[in-house]
Amino acid sequence: MAFNLRNRNFLKEIDFEPRELRHLLDLARALKLAKYAGTEVKHLDGKEIALIFAKTSTRTRSAFEVAAYDQGAHVTYLDPSGSQLGHKESIADTAAVLGRMYDAIEFRGSEQADVEELAAHAGVPVYNGLTNEWHPTQMLADFLTMHEASGKPYDRLTYAYLGDCRYNMGRSLLVMGALMGSDVRLAGPADLHPPKDVVQTAQDIARRTGARITITDNPADAVAGADFIHTDVWVSMGESKDVWTDRVTVLAPYQVNAALLEKSGNAKVKFMHCLPAFHDANTVVGAEIMQHTGMTSGIEVTEEVFSSAASIVFDQAENRLHTIKAVLVATLG
Ligand code: CP
Ligand code: NVA
Repeated sequence: MAFNLRNRNFLKEIDFEPRELRHLLDLARALKLAKYAGTEVKHLDGKEIALIFAKTSTRTRSAFEVAAYDQGAHVTYLDPSGSQLGHKESIADTAAVLGRMYDAIEFRGSEQADVEELAAHAGVPVYNGLTNEWHPTQMLADFLTMHEASGKPYDRLTYAYLGDCRYNMGRSLLVMGALMGSDVRLAGPADLHPPKDVVQTAQDIARRTGARITITDNPADAVAGADFIHTDVWVSMGESKDVWTDRVTVLAPYQVNAALLEKSGNAKVKFMHCLPAFHDANTVVGAEIMQHTGMTSGIEVTEEVFSSAASIVFDQAENRLHTIKAVLVATLG
């Protein structure tokens, strides 16, 4: 079934009905097949899209740019230092100006309230490319990837997320799983569980969709019988470097390593990570943390798991392109 999402914002998962999210996922699969077959049709000829990145990005920016070009649209990239936003001009005024020039605006920043404010004043669709609270475009990629890797419908997926459950990835995987009717398990220390209102929202949705939700401090309980094990960096963009020492101490039991994969009891269990990941010492930050903590085999995930056959992180990364393209085509095409 197709749904009309024209001119809609894409700010957070809970703004959408499950059937609308399924429609975006169906569209992403169709666009992926068309690109592979060389039969892609341009639906966005002449459209102009502003990409505001107040935080750094590799995947999200690239996915928006390539998706736009594939579909005939143009983009303008505004980096943290490349616009007046926040320093000399309010979000509302920036939105009003960009809304006069562009057909849509992507925004990556800190507060969800900022992207919501931008959307309230832009008069054109606004897309959330990550805030501290939500990472909705990542969710479309994650669900497409889990479906492709398992062949299971979304309401038969069982997945665990380990680590910092109170930030964007933990919260988004919780509510998206609730919306899609999946079996969602989050594991982390109690202090890093999602806020109560987010858990309540997910539980309310789950009652409608048949989703199962588990939030625990026990990693083995979370992964038992799981098809997928997700994790994310232990310290996110916008957090102080000073929290690393404490974070490593409290999250060490939640590291995704070979022993944890075994505890799933599922020989076909797959590893997922939104990336970037600290799995080796080949980055400045990764090397620094490994030296400081002595965790030389990896931080949130070991190099062994990251580079194993169970790891589908690069399929997941590729799917950012096809799913972001679906959002653009559905809202602007
Ligand atoms: N997963 C993700 O959002 O990656 P980037 O920070 O590189 O965009
Ligand atoms: N939680 C991470 C996700 C990066 C894609 C961050 O916000 O930095």
